[in-house]
Amino acid sequence: MTKRELSELRSQRWFAADDMRAFAHRQRTQQMGMRREEFMGRPVIGIINTWSEMSPCHAHLRDRAEAVKRGVWQMGGYPVELPAISVGEVMVKPTTMLYRNFLAMECEELLRCHPIDGAVLLGGCDKSTPALLMGAFSMDIPVIFCPAGPMSNGQWRGIKTGAGTHTKKYWDELRAGNITREDWVDLESRMTRSPGTCNTIGTASTMTSIVDAMGMTLSGASSIPAVDSGHSRMASACGARIVDMVWEDLKPSKILDRDSFLNGLVAYMALGGSTNAAVHLIAMAKRVGVSLTLDDMAEMAGKVPVVANVFPSGEYLMEDFYFAGGVNAMLKKLSRHLKLDRPTVNGRTLGENIADADCWNDEVIRGEDNPVVPLARGKTLEVLRGNLAPNGAVMKSSAANPKFLKHVGPAIVFDDPRTMNRTLDDPDLDITEDTVIVLRNAGPVGAPGMPEWGNLPIPKKLLKQGVRDMVRICDGRMSGTHYGTCILHVSPEAAVGGPLALVRTGDLIELDVAAATINMRVSEEELARRRAEWKPTAPIYERSFAALYQRHVSQAHEGCDFDFLTGTQPVPEPPIY
Ligand code: FES
Ligand code: MG
Repeated sequence: MTKRELSELRSQRWFAADDMRAFAHRQRTQQMGMRREEFMGRPVIGIINTWSEMSPCHAHLRDRAEAVKRGVWQMGGYPVELPAISVGEVMVKPTTMLYRNFLAMECEELLRCHPIDGAVLLGGCDKSTPALLMGAFSMDIPVIFCPAGPMSNGQWRGIKTGAGTHTKKYWDELRAGNITREDWVDLESRMTRSPGTCNTIGTASTMTSIVDAMGMTLSGASSIPAVDSGHSRMASACGARIVDMVWEDLKPSKILDRDSFLNGLVAYMALGGSTNAAVHLIAMAKRVGVSLTLDDMAEMAGKVPVVANVFPSGEYLMEDFYFAGGVNAMLKKLSRHLKLDRPTVNGRTLGENIADADCWNDEVIRGEDNPVVPLARGKTLEVLRGNLAPNGAVMKSSAANPKFLKHVGPAIVFDDPRTMNRTLDDPDLDITEDTVIVLRNAGPVGAPGMPEWGNLPIPKKLLKQGVRDMVRICDGRMSGTHYGTCILHVSPEAAVGGPLALVRTGDLIELDVAAATINMRVSEEELARRRAEWKPTAPIYERSFAALYQRHVSQAHEGCDFDFLTGTQPVPEPPIY
């Protein structure tokens, strides 16, 4: 590996010159108490930290930034912490997805406008992973993603409880009258025991495991629980390694190609990962000029069964997955699907990284010969098309009731979640488990931000009859921790005049997962008549970030990135005068 000269580092443009500006950069760094020897002649390592007190999943990242700094100092770098918006999944409304591109922009511009040579990205709660990496890919300087790690296992009255998955489960049980209000309050303090991301295969563990398989984390880092002492050691190792990566100029464009993304897809499918990853991966791929489509994902989902026995597709939690050997043990069992020669941030190939991985619990990390969900019964991702979704919709059939995978039923259609929630709890509502519930105006432009409204509620009276799943259709997303026959990301969305805008209560909807189709049985003539009458109903923002978002966001099957951020067109380095 040839090492770069000091003069080739970006930071030298700020610090090395013999002029008034460079004097000010050195002077102002010393203003913070740094000795000249502590920053001159050293790679400057940015630590992009998404810690916030509104982000419980990232509550430990302040400490982890200190661990990263230890590693950077040890290897002769100069660490600087740069705070960024946290996009904590639970508190941010209307949805963190509205702010994924915001954080991507922030990460890219923080790296660009400062004298940064390489960076460690601290994040993990759902959108923070794709956001930080999208920004870093566009900036294309050496980076390591340091995943926040899953929270510790939860338990309630002897039963394993997973974040998100069991919130939804017990909410349904409360509405069905099977648990009491007191039980519900008791659960609040029991389910989420520590900092860290959701301990189920939600979007967080889906995305961090995918980017681990793509080579953007230290090998196996995504499985280390947030509060394990090994997590601090991993963070310190990120700090040590990034300094060498700067000298090696090992940047994302030298690590990633289409095969790296395909390796990510193997992890995605094997985990029974979140449908949200389908949107994020397309956006990330476009930032490095890699072609990746929904059809690539459907193809991989047809080859790799769910082998991680973790909620919501399985029965264990992320801490069990870690003790069983974590993502590396899982990938080793799936080696035949992987491109093992892909490089990773630690300087070794994926194949070298997983060669010695052991599996300590074959019940938690199954093999392809004994999957959690056989491919014949369900997959991590189905891509459906038809006259309801010409550009595609997705669903996770491995987390759906198999009896609904081929289904015809009448639609009940809602234009907004408030009316839907009120109506579905009406005891006199004319509805059966065969009805298909439709919610529209939840897409990228319509909501805006494509919120996780797609796990549409089962009507209260049906819950009391024991119904726990129905066919549901939405142009929004759903939490990766949730389950059910939910058809999501319908594209084009209703708000831009997609055919979902034309469906009416009473229309027959036909789902055929084996044929990969979703259709409404409405004639072309009738649809043309309805189209002529259609008027947009989405709220249009005149100002604020939402206004920028509505004007520039792409549709779900294109990744929901902004038109002016996607692609690989070079951006000039900032002038220093
Ligand atoms: Fe942060 Fe689930 S809420 S990872
Ligand atoms: Mg989530």
